[in-house]
Amino acid sequence: MGERLKIVGVVGARPNFMKISPLVRALNREPEVFEFILVHTGQHYDPLMNDVFFRDLELPEPDIHLGVGSGSHASQTAKIILGFEKVALELKPHLVVVVGDVNSTVAAALVAGKLGIALAHVEAGLRSHDRRMPEELNRIVTDTLSEVLFTPTRLADKNLLAEGIDPSRIALVGNIMIDSLIRFLGPAAKSPLPGSLGLEPGGYGLVTLHRPSNVDSPAVLAEIVEALLAVARDLPLVFPVHPRTVKMLKAAGLFSRVEKAKGLRLIEPLGYIDFLALLRSAGLVFSDSGGIQEETTYLRVPCLTLRENTERPETIEQGTNVLVGHDGGKIAGEARKILNGGGKKGGALEFWDGNVSLRIAWELKKRKNYFMTPAEIRLAEGARF
Ligand code: UD1
Repeated sequence: MGERLKIVGVVGARPNFMKISPLVRALNREPEVFEFILVHTGQHYDPLMNDVFFRDLELPEPDIHLGVGSGSHASQTAKIILGFEKVALELKPHLVVVVGDVNSTVAAALVAGKLGIALAHVEAGLRSHDRRMPEELNRIVTDTLSEVLFTPTRLADKNLLAEGIDPSRIALVGNIMIDSLIRFLGPAAKSPLPGSLGLEPGGYGLVTLHRPSNVDSPAVLAEIVEALLAVARDLPLVFPVHPRTVKMLKAAGLFSRVEKAKGLRLIEPLGYIDFLALLRSAGLVFSDSGGIQEETTYLRVPCLTLRENTERPETIEQGTNVLVGHDGGKIAGEARKILNGGGKKGGALEFWDGNVSLRIAWELKKRKNYFMTPAEIRLAEGARF
């Protein structure tokens, strides 16, 4: 049997939780092979952005919490680096696993890289090719440092190969977030939330908005809000609001207008299951999120993405996604098309099948001896770069 593979998984922000949950479950199924330790950086700290996700996704309490909180990108990332370095030195894992593209992801990746601890990135290879996006920088740095890159699609593999990453480091496993989606669709179907909000299946739109490029400029935010208010005259909209967006709506003097608007309903951020409940039955979704583009594609719900580009172009080519930027006319116009029956139907994506975490566990087992090889030998052999 031999020594167990000691893995530290790092999460920090809301979109990380649905990506780590299936993996924790898969690794904990083989306790004789894997020892798994969960570290939460504390990047997101509001109970509605955290605790409810741990409950809904049946995630164990984090073993270690760094409690870093909000701040500028530099200070948040720096605090995570300082906190996580201490933890990594104490725990001495064979492998650090990071997911997604948030500041916690890149900070933990830098620590692992500098300490010579093997690093695996789940959801590797996504590229928007837009370096103005903080997440794009996080993705590039994390992928460069990773010794194993778990990719969700063939296009992600292509992106990595184009950057000169050795094919031996890439493992196409599929989209892990869809593992969570498939697992929790049943409970979501039983959520009383849509009914209690008086919503009929297909008879409402769902809105999420939090990206700095959309909410930090009062003029851009106002244009989006006006477009949503126009759509809300024909279709009731539900809008669970991210704390950052509440702050920005208030700062732009738009909050009370939105709050009072007929047809547009602001609600608190939702947990995973309640959000899924609204998502699966929505007639239309407006969002600037990364993951929601994929979830709507899987669920075949039309999605208007309020961004100029996407790191997930498969959702446009094969799914239900349309990019609308923050142009008010385009947002309202595309919404009207969908309401008139012109929404994309989309199709299933390869490897988005609910078994991604099992494939990752298998790939990790295959490389167990490699991860356990001391850094001096592992890295000197050039297997990495
Ligand atoms: C982060 C991720 C983004 C992801 C998003 C999902 C980065 C660079 N960005 O963005 O990719 O799509 O999470 O939610 O990592 N705040 C609270 N309570 C919280 C967390 C944040 O009030 O629990 C407020 C604070 O005012 C904070 C602001 O939101 O300054 C931004 O939080 P931050 O973690 O920096 O980035 P997000 O915008 O949440």
